[in-house]
Order: sequence, then structure tokens, then C-alpha cells
Amino acid sequence: MAQDILTRPDGTAADWTIPQDWDAYTAEDHATWDTLFDRQARLLPGRVTPEFIDGLDMLRLSKPGIPDFDELSERLMKATGWQVVAVPGLVPDDVFFDHLANRRFVSGNFIRRPDQLDYLQEPDVFHDVFGHVPLLAHPVFADYMQAYGEGGRRAAQAGVIEKLARLYWYTVEFGLVRSEGGLKLYGAGIVSSYTESVFALDDPSPNRIGFDLRRLMRTKYRIDDFQQNYFVIDSFEDLLDQTLNTDFGPLYAELEGQEDIEIEAILPTDHVYTRGTQRYAREQAA
Ligand SMILES: [Fe+2]
Repeated sequence: MAQDILTRPDGTAADWTIPQDWDAYTAEDHATWDTLFDRQARLLPGRVTPEFIDGLDMLRLSKPGIPDFDELSERLMKATGWQVVAVPGLVPDDVFFDHLANRRFVSGNFIRRPDQLDYLQEPDVFHDVFGHVPLLAHPVFADYMQAYGEGGRRAAQAGVIEKLARLYWYTVEFGLVRSEGGLKLYGAGIVSSYTESVFALDDPSPNRIGFDLRRLMRTKYRIDDFQQNYFVIDSFEDLLDQTLNTDFGPLYAELEGQEDIEIEAILPTDHVYTRGTQRYAREQAA
């Protein structure tokens, strides 16, 4: 996601894109990608939604290591009309939304250092490409991402980004989806993290509750550690339908007068999959 107060670095285009400069990656950079990729590719089957595994083939390109965005975009374009473009890091909200609305996914072009395999605050190419691109190859999820970008542009004009940002956070980044075989991962923030890929499904600490758009948009989230709450969608089709069929203008007005919901709260109206112990968050706070 993005921040408001950012200055466009020298060398970036007006839309904040830069050349990926694939040839500038070092052998160590590529090795870091391969290590992360192999670890997640081993861990995720059975945990992640099958559509993600299908989309992973998109990343197995002709060159080893970090994907070349041109080659990746060519494949993605054929599948769903999306492209991946490089940016130096976080970009302003309006720029971010505009890219999504035009089926361009922005990715940091740098990769984390070998001593940062498990945690990095700013999204790097592994998070952005491994985490997000496989589902961009899925037609319904691809449409959802574009719809989100269009909604974001309207929200930015209306000055109500905060509530909509929660939708991105709790679906695109940290979403779970129901399946006959139990809950599965699909959020990029989870699937690109070795530790959260386990925590989000197996740990008794977090709540896991059914997706409810109004409720979700009132719920706070945390950016500094494992989530205390995950929202579970029924399907990508349902997520897209609800997003397209909601008139967000009146919804923002309705939410304006309502208080935020604390992260760990469970409401009587929630569909509760797991009532979390919140033990992990308590221990971290102690
Ligand atoms: Fe992300």
C-alpha cells in the first residue's frame, strides 16, 4: 500500500516507474530470491488456495532468480491483461490506485538482504512479485484488483482512503479463503512470509472471522507484526461481486459516524471461524 507524503525520487517517470534494470541484480540478489522461493514453494501446497499454486507457474521464467518484469508482463498480459512495473519503493496513493485501475501492478525492484529473509517492513520484489503476481493470473482476482484501483481513485477524490485501505489490507494482503478442505491462505503479506504462512492458519492466537465488508472497513489493523485478526472470504467470485455491487459513496457516509472496531474484538454478529486466544499479541506486548 502507499503513503501520502512522498516525494518522487530523481530518475523516476511521472507515474513513479523506473526501469527494473534486471542486469544490475547481483548473484547474491538472485540467490536470495531462489532461497525464498524454494522455501515458500515447499511450505505452501495444502496451505494456500489452489489458484495461487496455479499462478506460480507464471514466475518460472527462462532465467533463474528474480523474474525479469518484461518477460513476466508478457506472460501476465496474455493471461489477464496485467503488467508488472518497477518503482523505487512505496508510491503515493493516487499513483498506486491509477496503476491498479489500468492493470499495472507496481513492484519494488530491490530485494531484501540475506539477513532479512524473515522480516522486512518495506515491500521488496519478493513480496510484490511472489506474493501478488500468482493471483493476478487468475481472471476473477485480476478483476478484483482493477476494481479496487478504480474504487481507490474515487475514494482518494473524496478523501476517504483510510476505510478503503482496510479492504486491501484484509483481503489482498492478509486474506484467508474458505474451502472444503478448511481455511486457505491467499493474502500476499501472508504467502510471502514463511512464519506468517504458518501462524495465520495454525496458531490459536488470532481471530478468524467471516468477511463482512461494513464490519471490515471499521476494523483497525496492525502493520508491525502478525495479524490479530483475519477475515475469511467465501470465494474470489463473492469478493468481486460484493465489491462491484456496493455503492461505496453512501457506505463511506454511513461509516463516518461509526466508531472503529478494535483489532481483537469479536461482535455478536460475526461469523466466527476461530475465536483467538490473542496469546501471541499479549506476549509481544508484555
Ligand atoms: Fe503487498
